[in-house]
Amino acid sequence: MCGIVGAVSARNIVPILVEGLKRLEYRGYDSCGVAVHQGGGLKRARSTARVAELQTQVASDRIEAGTGIAHTRWATHGIPAVNNAHPHFSAGPNAAADAPGKIALVHNGIIENYEELRSELKAKGFKFDSQTDTEVIAHLVAHLYHGDLFEAVQQAMTQLRGAYAIAVFCRDEPHRVVGAREGSPLVLGVGKGETFLASDAMALAGVTDQIVYLEEGDVVDVQLGKHWIVGKQADGSLRPVQREVHTVQAHSGAAELGPYRHYMQKEIFEQPKAIADTLDAVAGISPELFGDGAYAAFKGVDQVLILACGTSYYAGAVAKYWLESIAGIPTSVEIASEYRYRDSVPNPRTLVVTISQSGETADTLAALKHARSLGMATTLTICNVATSAMVRECKFAYITRAGAEVGVASTKAFTTQLVGLFLLALALAKLRGRLTQAQEAGHLKLLRHLPVAVQAVLALEPQIVAWSQAFTAKENALFLGRGLHYPIALEGALKLKEISYIHAEAYPAGELKHGPLALVTAAMPVVTVAPNDQLLGKLKSNMQEVRARGGELYVLADSDTRIESGPGVHVIRMPEHYGALSPILHVVPLQLLAYHTACARGTDVDKPRNLAKSVTVE
Ligand code: M6R
Repeated sequence: MCGIVGAVSARNIVPILVEGLKRLEYRGYDSCGVAVHQGGGLKRARSTARVAELQTQVASDRIEAGTGIAHTRWATHGIPAVNNAHPHFSAGPNAAADAPGKIALVHNGIIENYEELRSELKAKGFKFDSQTDTEVIAHLVAHLYHGDLFEAVQQAMTQLRGAYAIAVFCRDEPHRVVGAREGSPLVLGVGKGETFLASDAMALAGVTDQIVYLEEGDVVDVQLGKHWIVGKQADGSLRPVQREVHTVQAHSGAAELGPYRHYMQKEIFEQPKAIADTLDAVAGISPELFGDGAYAAFKGVDQVLILACGTSYYAGAVAKYWLESIAGIPTSVEIASEYRYRDSVPNPRTLVVTISQSGETADTLAALKHARSLGMATTLTICNVATSAMVRECKFAYITRAGAEVGVASTKAFTTQLVGLFLLALALAKLRGRLTQAQEAGHLKLLRHLPVAVQAVLALEPQIVAWSQAFTAKENALFLGRGLHYPIALEGALKLKEISYIHAEAYPAGELKHGPLALVTAAMPVVTVAPNDQLLGKLKSNMQEVRARGGELYVLADSDTRIESGPGVHVIRMPEHYGALSPILHVVPLQLLAYHTACARGTDVDKPRNLAKSVTVE
């Protein structure tokens, strides 16, 4: 989703701005732009193509300067078009259409009261060139500007409602950029004699490793080699604050593709290593795996509340089964964007668990804050980015070691989240006297063998490719699972729709006859997740119901299930039966099915339409 980079330096910072945008490309965007202070005025380039195209434009327009801001936009208000792309300019009130810009601004997030501000600013003579909520902020800052940009931004913030991060500079103050955040991430990079802003430390990798994570309500004045921050106080006023400078080894984002066609394929095949890395430091089961002091904190909880979105939510849905059956602890799983807006009954003895690959998902962060505001202070995150807002906001953390995930469709992040959540179930079980030493040793042995077991599943790829030929021409598909594997069916359906654009739905197989069976004809492929568990007999009956209506079954069956291929039944045998950990294996062929079907349909696998990797707006 949107990305910001800004800089004030004595050298030409345009290559740093453009490189920063490239590092943020994986998040997803539909247009991009850069603006600098050059020749006593503002100069900009914007594009609805890739950052590489912007780079060419910048070079041919000879855009070079020491002060500037840059942006990748993921459209919310207004279509992806050059006039909607950031940076937005304001030339002040009653300016001629071609008047030179005075304020340049980029923005992540959403301004909720932009319509009323727009009407007020129009009445004051400001002319709008775009449909965006962002242009409203540029004009508002111009309206409030009386020679001090830092002041003007602080005043503008009192009028903005919503979640945002901004970076702005002014024609009249050539060596100054002002940043502000309220609900969307923004970091400050401290260099030698130069200072930077970015929505993510990764954008500054190779430029500086000295990072300040700005807090909610902070406004920062960025100048040549120095900065000042004011932070929001309890009474809403802004006062000077000191924020800690962290040394951050931000990885440089997209790794090499190597022999793979897409990042998603690479990431699917990296799962054995990602799981092994995630388990690397686990010598035994203990709450302290989740942070110092976790033993005492977990001892005081009697229920678990999981908050997450998308694929991470499905990981939570699997974990509910584990937490209730292994640890015997009541668990609820909530879609973050729903939880934060509904009336719920808080219990202060709750362990609140957020799950997030990016650690920056706006809905999950807001749900976490909502839970905390209800008095639930014991918070844990299962997260793949150690430097993320989610890790900073939670008391405890389990960092999955999946490595950077570039493909929008989450794969290795999901399986490593499951590993972290299984460890949590074991730790809580041990704490509650429900895990014997022998059971602990047995679970650890199975966990350690997982990378090998996943590798064996990956070897099924040629069979999945054959299945994908049948899916390529379809427009609908059903996914069935039961128990622990119902969330896996949901995840399989999400993967297929997200990258192949085939409409896919998942049901617990027992629900079929209560409605969705009406959809089943010979044209409907029905993917069935069939481990050899206590629900197998019931699942087989559900499969018969599909066959009796002519539905075509694609079954991922454990070897000892006695489900055979035949007319209308296509079986792939899973190499190993894996008990409680079987969801981690069964999801892998579903990832491959979505991947190969999408490839055959020629979609943009790593950057599916309309989607972003890091969803930083509500
Ligand atoms: O970074 P997060 O795990 O918080 O992201 C949550 C969802 O946006 C994410 O899982 C999304 O559903 C994926 N694109 C699914 O593949």
